[in-house]
Amino acid sequence: MKKLSILVVDDEKGYRDEISEYLSDCDFIVQKAETPSLALEILHSSAIDIAIVDLKLPEMDGITLLKKMLAFDPEMAVIMISGHGDMESVIKAMREGAIDFFAKPFDLMDIQYSIERTQKYLTLQNHISEIHATYEKLLSAKDVGQRYQMIGNSKSMKNILHLMKQVADSNNTDVLIIGESGTGKELVARGIHNLSDRKENIFFDVNCTAIPENLFESEFFGHAKNAFTGADSLRKGWFEIANHGTLFLDEIGDMPVAMQAKLLRVLEERKIRRVGSSKDIAIDIRIIASTNKNLEEMISNNLFRKDLFYRLNKFYINIPPLRERLDDIVPLLEYYNREFSLLMKKPLKPFSDKALKDLQEYDFPGNVRELKNMVEKAVIMLQSGDTYLRLEHVSGSSRKKNAGNILTGLPDLSLGHLETLEKNMIHKAMQQSKNNKTKAAELLDTTRTSLNRKIKKYGLLFDS
Ligand SMILES: Nc1ncnc2c1ncn2[C@@H]1O[C@H](COP(=O)(O)OP(=O)(O)OP(=O)(O)O)[C@@H](O)[C@H]1O
Ligand SMILES: [Mg+2]
Repeated sequence: MKKLSILVVDDEKGYRDEISEYLSDCDFIVQKAETPSLALEILHSSAIDIAIVDLKLPEMDGITLLKKMLAFDPEMAVIMISGHGDMESVIKAMREGAIDFFAKPFDLMDIQYSIERTQKYLTLQNHISEIHATYEKLLSAKDVGQRYQMIGNSKSMKNILHLMKQVADSNNTDVLIIGESGTGKELVARGIHNLSDRKENIFFDVNCTAIPENLFESEFFGHAKNAFTGADSLRKGWFEIANHGTLFLDEIGDMPVAMQAKLLRVLEERKIRRVGSSKDIAIDIRIIASTNKNLEEMISNNLFRKDLFYRLNKFYINIPPLRERLDDIVPLLEYYNREFSLLMKKPLKPFSDKALKDLQEYDFPGNVRELKNMVEKAVIMLQSGDTYLRLEHVSGSSRKKNAGNILTGLPDLSLGHLETLEKNMIHKAMQQSKNNKTKAAELLDTTRTSLNRKIKKYGLLFDS
């Protein structure tokens, strides 16, 4: 266990020295201060875990000092001591956030026990923060299969990337991400976090669907010790845990209306108060909310607050379904084929032209998630000797209107379809040639000028 740093603040030399000596013997690191100004100076220059503060001090009373200390470092534990033992001050000090109170003369061993209890609590808090931090680091680690790589060649995807970069730079702007299930809302949220100055801090993901209604408030705001029956210790809420990082509110449409009002207040005031506490705690977070619901429709049914919607909707990102950005299908298929083949140590095999064609006409009701799962299964099913990946699960029933052609085996001769195929060929060639147009033109058996003309005609965007 780390050695705790303790600051003893008492103007009475006798007490100050006696407490300090005793605690030094208990193997704590101890500093002493005779006045509040000296105490605050020490607090600013060294990390203090626990302060023992006398109620009656020169310059300001102990409670004022307690408030100043906690405002500077809300994590610090403060134990009050007093020569008076008047209940009113005891209650006031506890309300302001003191964790314990001793009346003089006290038994030094009692203070030691109180410190040891606090130490256990602080260690636990640290463990929780460390676990969160490690978990987040693991999730965002670049080498974990590049988990957060966003693939997409379509215009809308490029536009989304542009918006993500823009909003990442303005560190406090809240964001609303709208899109069907599986379109990549969480990926976009994590992307914004990772592109922002908050990237070293926590990305805290809360799924509003999973929280029982009666727990919302204490989960989000935390609670003071004894705030209600069963609250036998102080608990930090998610706003506090996410402090300095990003709080991702997944499925905001499932947040109860009463909680929506409270969230709006937090968005506006940027401070919170634990349930049962009278102390405001300033928080510095970016909120990213996401939904696959139609919030405007929910507003007209009084299920979503209009003011919260307008507040969140100031900066929104709409992710279109995959069937509306066909240019992303082939790059996604290829990306996940590479990823899963590598992961499963299988040889990289292509999709047959027929499979690619089918996939480009498929509706993907589950969007990118469905595509990803499909590729995963195809790679799992790959057997030695196979030339192509098998796609047994693109069911005929979900295909678009021209699926009839595929089912009857007749080729689809519509011009629209040819254009889609052509666009995808261009994407494929540009990807293979790493956006080198001369090489891409060679792959497509055409000239650079003709390729340029097509790129312009279809409004395709490539980084040069
Ligand atoms: N552009 C993309 N590039 C690569 N992978 C993507 C892309 N978009 C989504 N994915 C992948 O698809 C899966 C679903 O994405 P994500 O969980 O972000 O979707 P979602 O919109 O939050 O879905 P839901 O509404 O169901 O929670 C994830 O595995 C994600 O990595
Ligand atoms: Mg999601």
